[in-house]
Amino acid sequence: MALERTLSIIKPDAVAKNVIGEIESRFEKAGLRIVAMKMLHLSREKAEGFYAEHKERPFFKDLVDFMTSGPVVVQVLEGENAVLANRDLMGATNPQEAAAGTIRADFAQSIDANAVHGSDSAESAAREVSYFFADDEICPRA
Ligand code: PPS
Repeated sequence: MALERTLSIIKPDAVAKNVIGEIESRFEKAGLRIVAMKMLHLSREKAEGFYAEHKERPFFKDLVDFMTSGPVVVQVLEGENAVLANRDLMGATNPQEAAAGTIRADFAQSIDANAVHGSDSAESAAREVSYFFADDEICPRA
């Protein structure tokens, strides 16, 4: 099994609901380790850059409005097959379609306020981790 890293964001709706700890606990209980973490309020420029691949999609402005509407928690998760493991924990993008017991089924209300982001591939993860964290801000397990 490959030890991987993935980028996870707890979005403004989940931060506002005060469920940061509950979400982090799910990662830890699933065997993922938090090796970097910061809380920040994204600027429009930072959010637009992060979601640049979606800039032609009709929901782009709504997505950026939402992601800049309040603080987020950004973290790097490390573990075996971390990208897929995190996607499984998150559930489907649309919480109405998310499997019972997933983060989005339990904490999200709509497709535009869906509690968490997770990298969708190892390639995206590498890009997204370096978008938010310098190498010396990541603390691999001892
Ligand atoms: S994904 O996760 O990339 O497979 O999903 P995708 O459908 O491509 O959506 C990309 C991100 O856009 C968000 N999204 C929306 N935001 C606002 N309004 C609408 N209608 C909408 N549809 C999708 C979705 O939550 C994804 O955000 P991230 O942060 O990547 O999960």
